[in-house]
Amino acid sequence: MTDTHVHPVQPAWRERALIDDATYRAWYERSVADPEGFWAEHGKRIQWMVPFSRVKEKNFDENVSIKWFADGQTNVAANCIDRHLASRGDQVAIIWEGDDPNEQKKVTYRELHESVCRLSNVLKDHGVNRGDRVTIYMPMIPEAAYAMLACARVGAVHSVVFGGFSPDALAGRIVDCGSTFVITADEGLRGGRKVPLKANTDKAIEIAGNNGVAVEKVLVVKRTGGDIAWRENRDVWYHEAVERASPVSEPEAMNAEDPLFILYTSGSTGKPKGVLHTTAGYLVYASMTHQYVFDYHDGDIYWCTADVGWVTGHSYIVYGPLANGATTLMFEGVPNYPDAGRLWQVVDKHQVNIFYTAPTAIRALMGAGDAHVTKSSRASLKVLGSVGEPINPEAWEWYFNVVGGGKVPVVDTWWQTETGGILITPLPGATDLKPGSATRPFFGIKPQLVDNDGQVLEGAADGNLCITDSWPGQMRTVYGDHERFVQTYFSTYKGKYFTGDGCRRDADGYYWITGRVDDVLNVSGHRMGTAEVESALVSHDAVSEAAVVGYPHDIKGQGIYCYVTLMNGIEGTEDLRKELVAHVRKEIGPFASPDKIQWAPGLPKTRSGKIMRRILRKIAEDEFGALGDTSTLADPAVVDDLVANRQNKK
Ligand code: WTA
Repeated sequence: MTDTHVHPVQPAWRERALIDDATYRAWYERSVADPEGFWAEHGKRIQWMVPFSRVKEKNFDENVSIKWFADGQTNVAANCIDRHLASRGDQVAIIWEGDDPNEQKKVTYRELHESVCRLSNVLKDHGVNRGDRVTIYMPMIPEAAYAMLACARVGAVHSVVFGGFSPDALAGRIVDCGSTFVITADEGLRGGRKVPLKANTDKAIEIAGNNGVAVEKVLVVKRTGGDIAWRENRDVWYHEAVERASPVSEPEAMNAEDPLFILYTSGSTGKPKGVLHTTAGYLVYASMTHQYVFDYHDGDIYWCTADVGWVTGHSYIVYGPLANGATTLMFEGVPNYPDAGRLWQVVDKHQVNIFYTAPTAIRALMGAGDAHVTKSSRASLKVLGSVGEPINPEAWEWYFNVVGGGKVPVVDTWWQTETGGILITPLPGATDLKPGSATRPFFGIKPQLVDNDGQVLEGAADGNLCITDSWPGQMRTVYGDHERFVQTYFSTYKGKYFTGDGCRRDADGYYWITGRVDDVLNVSGHRMGTAEVESALVSHDAVSEAAVVGYPHDIKGQGIYCYVTLMNGIEGTEDLRKELVAHVRKEIGPFASPDKIQWAPGLPKTRSGKIMRRILRKIAEDEFGALGDTSTLADPAVVDDLVANRQNKK
């Protein structure tokens, strides 16, 4: 990536903005020079039941311990709802836009309050208590937000599982956190197609049961009214239960460091980790970044197109915007249904001011042609955001020029499930933009680049991205496995949080994320471990061994390339290829579909049996001229076969 031309802050952005460049610099300086003072002040942005006196307690060494505002008490749902009732009870909190363009709903803060209170009582009536884990497997409907907020209100810990995950994946997540209460819907609806959520839940519960966790209750929202199986005494209709429940519910006083949610995410090795976020610090950070990064003003209509099943949906559809009293739009559908102009029709229909989406959507819509965009007005737009993967400068320029008409800032926000909120980003009124760069650190964030030996790199440099100090939104542990937390994030470079991303810093101090340096894939902004796809493949009877790598993909950012060694005597046919694709979809979910499968009689291994992925990546990228040193391979001849049969010939 090169330094393409700079888009300076336009006068109109600066005029509207909460933060200009001088303010950014002054606040940033203070935030790193005096983090205690800075966060003591900004910690007050949320409402406390018991004020805090302690601010930051950080230990990135040995056993790692992170606490923020530890002696304070608060409730996240009260901050997102009750707090606004007096001043904005009749303001719309959630605009819901259905998959079908004729379906929509507006929920005021007062209505949100009633729905969440009733659901809180349903949870309590079924014995859900503080600290209990509740699994939420839902389509993008307001009830998904009610479910999260009701958990927060009673102090239960939610684990939202993306509706695109398979029964196996759902079961694994239910078992890992020992969750016996599940909230789901009969079916989801996306792009006119039904998603069998209840049927998947039924299967998942069976699998979980065989693995030692007996789900006791399933609360089912009626979304489509489709046919579903029903288990008496276990399944409960949502609409019946909330109707019976009392609309009065006092929020629990939670300790700042009580868990708020678990969200499973993929790493380089092993099964997905339960990233644990806690109460107060998370909310302070999510709400503060939502306000300043999107330059959110009272009355703005804000739309993030993510799914609540991912962290972006947690922090920037539900918690950040609602804590700020915003109107947040929830979209059930997909960008190309009924046609590729849908997003812009919705922008006009609801007069959206702030729009936040992923590069993969931008690239796909760019391919569908400008006419879908230009037939809408989009005059309401004030800020555009991007998240989830590196955005290539071409897509950035298209977003800026065609979608924004060259008049709206684009904030390319870098962060992770683990970080809880945005860490590196432009601020609309403060930061000159460079297409492809996430630009500068948010307040309190201290990025550092190190080489592979851990040597700190100064000035313009290319290296591994670490963060050297804590911020309130940081994850606190891996649920049930603190040792894994320490190992994964704090052992590669001692005393620092290692992000797993590669990054370049240019001469202006701007950060350019270059992508993962570990074995994590980012496919259309969906994060998964190569190890997960590999274990899905080898669980098929025909497969003896598999190695999976990513390769550059025009729309998805990365595609999934699988090298598969078959069992003796089994032939690699087209039918088997299809069967393996279907198998991976069943094991993980449709978003993990392999793009390429290459039959590999052998894999390139060192003499100690380690697969040399560097070589596999090069072959998948069709860059086999630059394979580097292959002399350490146990059998260099396997490489010739792999090169000859590569699936990505340019
Ligand atoms: C990548 C999503 C470049 C990165 C919020 C990170 C990005 C991973 C950007 C986290 C960005 C996210 N530019 N890369 N603006 N945002 N990433 O946990 O590799 O689903 O480590 O969180 O996505 O993905 P996750």
